[in-house]
Order: sequence, then C-alpha cells, then structure tokens
Amino acid sequence: MRPDRPHSPAADRNRGPILDVLRHALPERARVLEIGAGTGQHAAYFTARQPGWSWTPTTVPAELATLVAGLEGLERPGLGQAAPLDVRTETDWPEPGYDAVFAANVVHIAPEPAVRALISGAARVLVPGGRLVLYGPFMRDGRHTSESNRRFDVDLRSRGVGSALRDVNDVDRWSAESGLRRVADIAMPANNFILIYD
Ligand SMILES: C[S@@+](CC[C@H](N)C(=O)[O-])C[C@H]1O[C@@H](n2cnc3c(N)ncnc32)[C@H](O)[C@@H]1O
Repeated sequence: MRPDRPHSPAADRNRGPILDVLRHALPERARVLEIGAGTGQHAAYFTARQPGWSWTPTTVPAELATLVAGLEGLERPGLGQAAPLDVRTETDWPEPGYDAVFAANVVHIAPEPAVRALISGAARVLVPGGRLVLYGPFMRDGRHTSESNRRFDVDLRSRGVGSALRDVNDVDRWSAESGLRRVADIAMPANNFILIYD
C-alpha cells in the first residue's frame, strides 16, 4: 500500500466478512452503486475479487478528493470512477439500473433525513429485484446490542450533527415507505450487522 493513500484500519478488518455476505447476496454479474465510500477500500477489495461486479464508488462532494486519492492507480476491471453523490441532492443520483446499492457505516453517520433520502434514492435507482445492503451497528427494539455500541452512540450524539445509531425497526419502516422490505439480517463481527432490503 502506498504510504500516502487514505486508509481506514476498520475497513481492512471488515472487508473480508462483508465480501463473504455480498457473494451470497448479489449475482456474479452486478452493477453496484456504493454510497459513502470513504477511502474506497471496500470498492478496491471487492472488485479485485469479483471481476463481474461493476462498482461505482461515490461520496459527498466535500470528501471526493479523499476517495479519489484512495483509489488512485488501482486497476480493476469493474472499478468505476469515483463520483460525487450527496444522498440529499436528488440530481446527484444516477439513472436507475443498479442491481445493488451498498452503504457501509453511513446510516449512523448521516442524519436521519439523509438516511431516509439514502433509502428512497436507492429504491429509485434499483432494478426490480435489486437490493439495498446496509452494513454497520444498529439498535434493536430501542436497545443497544453491546456496551461498546452504547458508548459509541453517546459519542455520535454528542457531536450534535444528527449522527446516531439507528434502530432496525426505524430502518425497516423508512424502507417500507419506499417499497423495500427486509429480506436478510446478518450478524457480523464486532457487533455490526448487514441488513438487506429488496
Ligand atoms: C464512517 S464513513 C464510512 C466510510 C466507508 N463506507 C467505510 O465503511 O469505511 C461515513 C461515510 O458516510 C458518508 N455520508 C455522510 N453523509 C452523507 C450524505 N448526505 N450523502 C452521502 N454520503 C454521506 C460520508 O461521506 C462518509 O464517506
């Protein structure tokens, strides 16, 4: 790895387990739109191992330079160009035609209106039968699933920008409003989950 490449240690740890789930959840050939791609580590790792996936990594315009630097010089057949996409800006969204929309660790960072915009935007761009895949920490029936997630939630809320762990019940409700229903709920390492909607 280039020493100056933007890098998240957490993404190194979770990318293998996430890929195992995605391999079961998505077809061999799939068009995937990634929201909040951060450093691009997931996009780079997945497309190196699944050449049939055509993957478009996106992030908010203010963080695009980080994503571009994270992916610079990486050659992968299915890795598309990094693109700016703020889920709240309807015109940022591409035309429909995606088999999956993937967002890792976005739902607890983005404020609630943005999370709802992510879900409704995903519903718009997915092909029939396409899937929304959300990875991250979630609450269950108003309760945290671990003490570390509870402390993390306190820290997120103290930032005052609307970040907070979401309850799966709320995510289910917002998704249902866009015609998406949950079809999978998978426990992942370190008290994270993958929720899949179609
Ligand atoms: C903790 S980072 C996750 C990065 C990467 N997906 C990962 O798992 O390492 C949170 C991401 O949420 C994105 N995000 C926050 N608000 C957003 C919005 N309104 N539209 C799109 N992305 C947003 C940020 O740009 C950032 O990339």
